[in-house]
Amino acid sequence: MEKKLTFLGIETSCDETASSVVQENGDGTAKVLSNIVSSQIKEHEKFGGVVPEIAARAHVENIDFIIQKALDKSKKKIDEIDGVAATAGPGLIVCLNIGYNIGKSLAAFGKKPFLSINHLEGHALSPGIENKISFPYLLLLVSGGHSQYLIVKNLNDYKQLGTTIDDAVGEAFDKTAKILNLGYPGGPNIEKFAKLGNKNSYSLPEPIINRAGCNLSLAGLKTDVLRKSKNIKSDQDKYNLAASFQETINKILRKKTEVAMDQFRKEISDNSIKPFVVAGGVAANETIRKNLKELSEKMNFKPIFPSKEFCGDNAAMIAWAGIQRYKKKLFDNKDDIVRSRWPLDKKAPFLKGPGLKL
Ligand code: KG4
Ligand code: ZN
Repeated sequence: MEKKLTFLGIETSCDETASSVVQENGDGTAKVLSNIVSSQIKEHEKFGGVVPEIAARAHVENIDFIIQKALDKSKKKIDEIDGVAATAGPGLIVCLNIGYNIGKSLAAFGKKPFLSINHLEGHALSPGIENKISFPYLLLLVSGGHSQYLIVKNLNDYKQLGTTIDDAVGEAFDKTAKILNLGYPGGPNIEKFAKLGNKNSYSLPEPIINRAGCNLSLAGLKTDVLRKSKNIKSDQDKYNLAASFQETINKILRKKTEVAMDQFRKEISDNSIKPFVVAGGVAANETIRKNLKELSEKMNFKPIFPSKEFCGDNAAMIAWAGIQRYKKKLFDNKDDIVRSRWPLDKKAPFLKGPGLKL
């Protein structure tokens, strides 16, 4: 019988210090033996966003303890681990270096394989922890730094269909929450306070909704929230604006996802029911889940949302990506470095910046 691999994962690309021990089940899914995430909300709250140097210092202070906790909880000793996987990008270089270097050292001392993992691939493969899922599938990756529609053709084989040309969806939630003084991180707070508001009270822009394929643009929406926030007179107005913002995001995502689903069908020339995965921190939003679930049913897709513990940044997805890469011999440490930018589809155009034409 083939040995079931057990990997230690390490994630420090942004403001979560995370470590996890994951064992493959042998049927394409995995058992998460531990999944420890230390979030730095308190450190960054007063700035309303992540401050790289503060994040890096918090990683240094926590990382050894978090790895030890992940091992203890999994009841595995370091000798029983078959490999170490750490996030090598994209992310904040000063933060990435901490998890990456400790992972590399642990692997070297233990004479174990070390795998550099793309954080986005971690998110992309995260639904496979809990679901038997076959390639190809359509992925909407929505987090604080990224918003992309991708065809996941196979491990290491991605085609980007669309991306944001300015703000990521999570970033738009965070900035809107900051404008409305609803606290940090923005996503969960907007969702909470939107429940108290009327989603039809404000009419907000839906930039490039009917053009540019499934590319997204959210900067104009945020600017309009800023403009309208100046006339807020009560808490109720604030909740109404939060609810209207969330509703507008839902309208944009519904339309753009429909376009992405059509593009996916054309690309793979297969009309059978296919998985549609929504991953990344924003996938935790219940209204977005409901909206995209309904659309999937209409468009003949099977919607898959990772459990909330695997939506936001975590190291289980990194360990799991490591196991899969190791099995396919997709690793090579020779030229490894940490990187701030690391697209999954290297051929995809870079759409941010001035002079952009769509
Ligand atoms: O994947 P993630 O943990 O980190 C990145 O790789 O960016 O995503 C974090 C983002 C933040 O922008 C946060 O506000 C957003 O996900 N988020 C949400 C919700 N929970 C987290 N956005 C909307 N609704 C939520 N419930
Ligand atoms: Zn992430």
